[in-house]
Parts: sequence; structure tokens; C-alpha cells
Amino acid sequence: MPFREGFDCLWCGQAHRTRSGSDIEGWASLCPDCVGRAGDNGFLRFRLRQALEERGRATAHEADGGVAVAAPVGPSAPAQVTPEEIDADMKAYYAARAPEYDQVYLHRGREADGKVLDLWFDHEIDELTQWLDGLPFRGEIVEIAAGTGWWSPLLAQKGELSIYDVTPEPLEIARQRLVAHGLRAHIHVRDAWEEPDRQVDGVFCGFWLSHVSRQRLGSFLGIVARWLKPGGTFAFLDERAGTVGVDPGVDPATGTSVRRLDDGREFRITKVYYAPDELRSALLQAGFATAEIRQTERFFLMGSATR
Ligand SMILES: C[S@@+](CC[C@H](N)C(=O)[O-])C[C@H]1O[C@@H](n2cnc3c(N)ncnc32)[C@H](O)[C@@H]1O
Repeated sequence: MPFREGFDCLWCGQAHRTRSGSDIEGWASLCPDCVGRAGDNGFLRFRLRQALEERGRATAHEADGGVAVAAPVGPSAPAQVTPEEIDADMKAYYAARAPEYDQVYLHRGREADGKVLDLWFDHEIDELTQWLDGLPFRGEIVEIAAGTGWWSPLLAQKGELSIYDVTPEPLEIARQRLVAHGLRAHIHVRDAWEEPDRQVDGVFCGFWLSHVSRQRLGSFLGIVARWLKPGGTFAFLDERAGTVGVDPGVDPATGTSVRRLDDGREFRITKVYYAPDELRSALLQAGFATAEIRQTERFFLMGSATR
């Protein structure tokens, strides 16, 4: 992230103004209190480490006779870790998180936001379910990055479903869920980035697009388009930007976040809150004939596109 003279702390929101261009707070966009707490908080430690590296690079550049410039912000900003490292971390994170993942949908325990928002969340999950149920899914359907299969029973009732995920742990929970519903699906470990081995009538992914970096969004949508027969349906659900549900740990410059499990382990993941217009144009650019994106009031985004 670039150096900021004055900012609202990324972690606690407190306003802070730096005294000089070398203040680490300005490089981390963290207030002094949060910098002081970095020892026992993974996200703060991650931000601080990035900030130290960025300040170090700027200082070295100045010493070389160059002009110190802030690191570029946006899709082309250099990541602190390679995409391969993040992919590996993301796989390890979801494998380890499988047993606790469904708490997200229940919005209780550590996922709770307070009574009103928890009820609102339930209401919006119903909205997503009804929306997905109303789409013209039929025939052969592929669910990419299906995880614990929260949405799989709904899709399995509409056609011949294959559910894929890169890690087996959540797929085992998905299998049990389908069995509990008396439903069937083909269940296989498969990377979302693998090229399709056939063409199908429908593709769905839930809460996966936000784990695809801006740099790779076009490539991923290209893979989805190649999965589909002409006229086939692509649908996705995800978190929306600018609401109470947004992950405070996301670094918008790198599109990454640090996630912590109940047992304290930490992982870096890709997390991008796409705007509806951004997704619409990426879908059309990837060759989809139509693309429609909607948002719920607070938490979610849903999109459908026709090949
Ligand atoms: C946020 S979860 C979404 C799970 C599920 N689709 C849902 O809507 O609840 C993201 C999923 O992506 C999976 N994943 C991570 N990297 C992947 C990859 N490269 N290919 C396929 N799945 C991947 C994780 O294992 C995890 O199950």
C-alpha cells in the first residue's frame, strides 16, 4: 500500500495523522495502538511486515538517488507473496477449515454479528436460495469449488450434478450432506483451474469468484465459458462490497487477506470484493452472451450469465 499521511486505521477505524514520511503507521495504515498489538494478531503482523518491506524499498530507492514513490495500488501492484504460494495457503486453509466452515452459513458463534444482523443474514440466505432455485439449471451441471456442498442438494435436484473441489476434506462433508438428503452427485477432487474435459449445461460456483484475483478473473471466466454448451447457464454467489459483512483484513492493494482458524492457525488467501459492473464486463469479455448481476441489501452478490 502507498504511504498515507492521514488515514482511518485499517483494523480499528480510528483516525490517525503521521508526523513524518518514515512513520511506519503511515506505511501500514494502522494506528499506533494497533501497531503495538501486532505481536498477537496475525493480520496486524502481516500488515506490519508488508509496511516494513515497502518502507525499506522506498528508502533504498532514495539512497540510490531515485525518488521515493509509493507502491502502485491496483491490479498491477506487486504481491508480497507469489500467486502459487497463496493458492497453496488457500487449499491448506479450506482443508483445515472444513469442519468449521458451515458456521459461515449459520452466522453464529465467531461468525455472529449481533441479533439483528444475524436474522438479516438468514433472510438474505433465503433470498439467495430462492434466486438460485429460480434459474434454468437442467441437464448436466458442474459445481466448481463446491466445498462442503451447502448449495449442492438444491442443484442435485435439477440435473446430473458433478461437484468438484481441490481438497477432499470439504467434499466428504458435501457427500454426507447429499446422502442425508437422499440425493446423488459425482464427487471428485479437481482444481478450478483445470481445463474442462467435456461441455455441460450449467456451471455454478458459490463464494469462489472472490478467491480469484483480478489478474486471473478473465482466465477463470474463460474456463467457465469452455465448460458450457452454447446457451448453457453460469451462476455464482458471493459476498458483496461495502457492507457490514466485508472482511476487515483484506488488503485492497494486493487482494489478499489473512484468515485465522479457531485453533489460531493463520493462512493467506485471495479475497476480492468485485463490483457488479466489473463482473458484468468481465463476463461479456469472456464471451458470455448475457450477464446479469444483482446484490442483496447487505451481504451478497449473485450473478448469472448465458454462454
Ligand atoms: C469459500 S469456499 C466456497 C465453498 C462452497 N462453494 C460454498 O459456496 O459454500 C471456497 C472453496 O474453494 C476451494 N478451493 C480453493 N482453491 C481451489 C482451487 N484451486 N480449485 C478448486 N477449489 C478450490 C476450497 O477448498 C473451498 O472449499
